[in-house]
Order: sequence, then structure tokens, then C-alpha cells
Amino acid sequence: MNRPRVLSGIQPTADSFHLGNYLGAVRQWVALQEEHDAFYCVVDLHAITVPHDPDTLRRRSRIAAAQLIGAGLEPERCTLFLQSHVPEHAELAWVLSCLTGFGEASRMTQFKDKSAKGGSEQASVGLFTYPILQAADILLYEADQVPVGEDQRQHLELTRDLAQRFNHRFGGTFVLPAPYILPSVARIADLQDPAIKMSKSASSPQGIVDVLDDPAQIRRKIARAVTDAGRDVRADEENKPGITNLLRIYSALTGEPIAAIEARYGSTGYGQFKKDLAEAAVATFTPIRERTEAILADTESLDKTLADGAARAGRVARETMATVREKIGFVPRLDRP
Ligand code: TYM
Repeated sequence: MNRPRVLSGIQPTADSFHLGNYLGAVRQWVALQEEHDAFYCVVDLHAITVPHDPDTLRRRSRIAAAQLIGAGLEPERCTLFLQSHVPEHAELAWVLSCLTGFGEASRMTQFKDKSAKGGSEQASVGLFTYPILQAADILLYEADQVPVGEDQRQHLELTRDLAQRFNHRFGGTFVLPAPYILPSVARIADLQDPAIKMSKSASSPQGIVDVLDDPAQIRRKIARAVTDAGRDVRADEENKPGITNLLRIYSALTGEPIAAIEARYGSTGYGQFKKDLAEAAVATFTPIRERTEAILADTESLDKTLADGAARAGRVARETMATVREKIGFVPRLDRP
């Protein structure tokens, strides 16, 4: 029986993933590789939609891939690759961009947020068409499910709309992908400002716990996380958003239900709770950091793993693109199978 297909991507735009990336997405990627035909890509084409430095991008792309393996992806079990190694992503993105309405693309809230920061005149056309490239990533692999955090939901809706439109106009081609979003970890908040999500672009360094932070940094950031008035360790989104966020993180890291954690710390104050939370984060991230460092010490072998992944991904992508070219009305190239 064919296993259901999964695809997801992550941007190599920082020196480390953060706790939100890990709990909201990467951890699910690791779990899903067991029972699914899983494709995971480091989306370096997406990373150049904002100004970037070439050497930094190259370094971060390898760090991202190494961290994914360090976090538990097994390249024999899933297909791990760099997006730029499979040129069909850009090719399908072009086709889909010709099916996307200008108004439709203009409604993407991530574009509005990101372009507002630098002034929309400065934003690149690539940043504007970013979600269409994301749709291409997903549709190329005929993914059934896409494990992501809540902030990607709108992009997945666009992906489904584009797949449906293509199928309607040119005949059934694409599978309609479903978002795979776990509500308990879909939106991890910034430790300094629980009103915003933890994010590489919006958070202050103190508001983010990085997967590659050393234990001292993790302990310091969690100790300084903003809490709310009172002493009760109790989930209450409205009145205690800071503690609620920390409870969610604690529960996700340890697997203990929130109610059990509330019962243990009760009204003993926030101190011990935060200390134990920091230790849970250190226990999760230390082995990931150590494995990542070991993988990065042998770039040649990492690049070989990525080449293998790209070869596997490329086979699927080329097949989909052959169908798309045919459906759209391009004349086949005789020397191409
Ligand atoms: P990116 O690189 O910003 O984030 C990677 C993943 O982490 C999730 N995430 C969070 N989850 C919970 N709480 C948070 N605070 C938090 N911050 C980030 C994101 O939802 C994401 O799942 N556009 C995508 C990359 C992409 C992609 C794709 C994803 C490109 N092509 C195809 C899925 C399928 C992005 O910028 O993710």
C-alpha cells in the first residue's frame, strides 16, 4: 500500500531554528517520517526573497539541514533536500503564478507584514510571489499533508485554491493537500511579548530560545521570560498569556498534560516552574546541538546526503512537471523522456 505523502519546508534564514520552529513543525516532521512518505526541504529559494549575503546563506543552508538530522530526521527514511537542487520548484512556480490573481496574492498577510517592515516599495517581487513558490513546493510532490505552524495556514489555502484551479482548467493533476497543524503547539509565543509569535524576524534575542543555544543561554532566557501578575501557575489565555505560553511549552517538551503541571506547581510561585522548564528545554536541545555540531564537522558527507535527497526528490518532481507541461500545452522536447 502506498504510504500517504507529506511535504514541508523551512527557511535557512538564521543560525539556528527556534523553539517555535521545533515544536510547531520540526518535531512533527520527525514523527511523520515513520509512517509517511516524507519530503522535507530547506527552502533556500525562499530565503533570497529578502536581501541576503551569499556566504551566510550557504552556511545557514547547511546548518539547517544538519539541524534537521540532529533533531531526528533520518535521510534513509525521509527525503531531505535543498530546494535549489531541484529546479522544477521554480518552473512550477512560474506556471502557478500565471494562474494566481494579483488581488489574491495581495491578500497574503505574511507579505503585508513583511513588506510593511521595510516599506512596500522596497519589497521584492519575489517576496510578493513567495506563497506561489510554496504552493509549487507542495504540489510537485502531490503531498497529502503539510505539517506546519498556524502562520502557514493562509499559504496552504492558496495552495489548495491553485491546485483546484489548475485541475479544473486543465484536468485532474494535483492532489489537494491538507494542513497538519497541532493546535497545542501551532503558535508558540515570544518569551518577552506573548502577544506576538516567536519569530526570527520579529522577536528580540531574549524573546527567542534557539535550538542551538547553549544551556546557560536557555536557562537565562527562560528565567527572564515575562510572567503575569499573581503567583499561580495556571493556564488562562486572556489574563495570563505569558504563563500560558510557558505551560504549553513545558507540556510539549515533557509530554505531561497541562492540568498535571498546574496541579504540581499550583501557587508555589513561578520560580521552580521556570527552573524545571529550563531543564526540560536543555535536556531536549543538548543532544540536538551536539549531533548538529558533529554533522557540520563533516560537510562533505552532509553534502552527499543532500545530493542523494535531491536525486530522489528530483525523480518525483520531474514526473509531475512532465504532466504539467503536457496539460498546459507545451510541445514535448523530443530528446527528453
Ligand atoms: P519558516 O521557516 O518561517 O518556519 C518553519 C516552520 O516553523 C513554524 N513556526 C512556528 N510554529 C509554531 N510557533 C511559532 N512561533 C512558529 N514560528 C514558525 C512555521 O509555521 C513553519 O511550519 N513559508 C514557510 C516555509 C515553506 C514551506 C513550504 C512550508 C516553504 N515552502 C512548503 C511548508 C510547505 C516558512 O516560512 O516557514
